[in-house]
Amino acid sequence: MGVLDGRKALVTGAGRGIGAAVAEGLAAEGATVMVSDAGVAVDGSGHDAGPAESVAAAINERGGKAFSDTTDITDFAACEELISRVASTLGGFDIMVNAAGILRDNMIFKMSEQDFDTVVSVHLKGTFNLSRHAATWWRENRGGQYRLINFTSMSGLHGAPSQPNYAAAKMGIVGLTYSCANALAGYGVRSNAIAPIAGTRMTQGIKGGGSLDYSAENKRLAPENVVPPVIYLASEQSEWLNRRIIFAGNGRISLMTNPVFEREIVSASGTWDVPTAFAEIEASFKGSVSPNIFDKPPAG
Ligand SMILES: NC(=O)c1ccc[n+]([C@@H]2O[C@H](COP(=O)([O-])OP(=O)(O)OC[C@H]3O[C@@H](n4cnc5c(N)ncnc54)[C@H](O)[C@@H]3O)[C@@H](O)[C@H]2O)c1
Repeated sequence: MGVLDGRKALVTGAGRGIGAAVAEGLAAEGATVMVSDAGVAVDGSGHDAGPAESVAAAINERGGKAFSDTTDITDFAACEELISRVASTLGGFDIMVNAAGILRDNMIFKMSEQDFDTVVSVHLKGTFNLSRHAATWWRENRGGQYRLINFTSMSGLHGAPSQPNYAAAKMGIVGLTYSCANALAGYGVRSNAIAPIAGTRMTQGIKGGGSLDYSAENKRLAPENVVPPVIYLASEQSEWLNRRIIFAGNGRISLMTNPVFEREIVSASGTWDVPTAFAEIEASFKGSVSPNIFDKPPAG
């Protein structure tokens, strides 16, 4: 008996890294899984059916139930076709996990238009494409306990200096997740985001990125450590949890705050003159602004 017995899941990016661990974890808990992955390089180039096929085969060999797929998530029409194929092949569709992703890092002053557009297209547009068609299917098939689980990143939440494209896309995914949470709750859907940390090929290139050891020997950063909260979100037990971000990895599972009004100054007249705004902004806000992890002395 697993906590996901009878549930049907589509996982993108499921041929490698965290997505593969999620697909295996959902299947181990009884879900039937469509393992979807276009098998691209970290920069998004190429196409290979091998990663999705081998993860699905490994699940089936262990007695689970999985199918494989190689849809490119940037293709809106192909994503629509994928959702209907998931529903017909798996006999239903309860859980959408959007974990596919790529990287094309550069500083903002060196980033090409194409590298910005490509990363936004895979992460934000790809997550939209599948969320959109999943939502349509769930709206037409009411009565289920449906789950949308999107992957964001601390890179966006903290603003990684060398990843303006990826950071922007990942914060776009937060807004998309919040919007879906508010729009779809009435159809039985719960929408949340995971901000993971794990040693995968995406993190292999990180040098001097703090004290973390991303090597395969560090079990704290094994992709499998991201999976238990994803299984929780995928289960019917998480019905109470909507529109939140969960950090997962390195031994931690954290509930993050949603943005709130932290400090506020209010003009009695409803208007502000510039000198008063300067004075009151500094008096009220300045003491509240703490350094973030990327703050360092100005470049010389
Ligand atoms: N590894 C981390 O520490 C970390 C941190 C923050 C966020 N994330 C996010 O977690 C998710 C998984 O990352 P990972 O580290 O496992 O990466 P990974 O590179 O190991 O796996 C990503 C998978 O996505 C697939 N993919 C990429 N573009 C695709 C497309 N257009 N269509 C279909 N499949 C496509 C790739 O083929 C690959 O197998 C990503 O969304 C990533 O941004 C990872």
